[in-house]
Amino acid sequence: MLRQAMLALSKSRRAERLVTTSPLTADVVRRYVADDIAAVVGALTRDGLLVSADHLGEEVHDPAQAEAAVATYVSLLALLPPGSDVSVKLTALGLRQSQRLATANAAAICAAAADKDVTVTLDAEEHDTVPGLHAVHAALRRDHPDVGVVVQAYLPDSLDRCEKLGGARVRLCKGAYTAPGAYTRPADIDRSFVRCLKVLMAGTGYPMVATHDPRLLRIASALAVLDGRDMTGFEYQMLYGVRPEEQARLAGLGARVRVYVPFGSDWYAYLMRRLAERPRNLAFFLRSLLSR
Ligand code: FDA
Repeated sequence: MLRQAMLALSKSRRAERLVTTSPLTADVVRRYVADDIAAVVGALTRDGLLVSADHLGEEVHDPAQAEAAVATYVSLLALLPPGSDVSVKLTALGLRQSQRLATANAAAICAAAADKDVTVTLDAEEHDTVPGLHAVHAALRRDHPDVGVVVQAYLPDSLDRCEKLGGARVRLCKGAYTAPGAYTRPADIDRSFVRCLKVLMAGTGYPMVATHDPRLLRIASALAVLDGRDMTGFEYQMLYGVRPEEQARLAGLGARVRVYVPFGSDWYAYLMRRLAERPRNLAFFLRSLLSR
């Protein structure tokens, strides 16, 4: 219930105005959103972590805004060390205006990223954009075979998706939005996650295991061993500000651990999704507002 309410709030312009104009939210935002992307990337890479940088922003309304998003990503590339990744939301590149526009914009980012030895991963968003996401991903793979895509395990067709994505870089996550027909019980989402993970680990692609869930992390490492993948054959991915001690522990064991680092002023919807994931975070958020 609380999760649904928070996700509904994430789309409310009124709530957005209220939260983003309050000077009291700064501490909570800083916990999840990099205020200085270059400094955060530098610190994480010094600690042996990889990064995927995400310029916050979704749902542009005209091609000029999408063009500006491309320009931001291209200039971001100068700050990233080789081996980094950028995470891109296709609605920020014009997917709702046209699939062709989003494909052209994403291709421009992929080409610039390849020059810097940086990969691109396409985030998964609201359920109505998922068919477009996979169509764009398939089109991009022709010229950019290492472009990655996200699969959300809460969607009942996620297993089918994973089976069709042979050879691709696939980031598997539980899913942060709502969707008609999606699994909602945690046990069902976890079961779906494990079914997908088995296919990805046994397949020919590069699995990116995006979760903070201790049980799923243990299952992923066991499956990697069973499928004969060494430490370079897959990676763990976690969000900036979430379980940093676990990120460091896994990296210390020699695993590839990538931290998803969002930055930019358009943080409202992202923050609301993080608060929706964990009621304890909401309490932290409210406490930090009340303690001023
Ligand atoms: P779950 O939410 O069950 O949490 C497991 C444990 O992790 C918790 O018990 C707690 O210890 C810790 N934890 C989780 N969230 C926390 C938080 N916010 N603060 C503090 N602790 C927390 N989704 C999507 O729909 N499209 C996408 O493209 C992406 N991309 C993406 C990239 C990466 C790198 C990650 C890690 C996640 C995503 N997601 C996503 C989000 C994903 O779908 C999911 O909502 C979150 O990762 C939370 O789910 P967990 O698997 O961590 O499990």
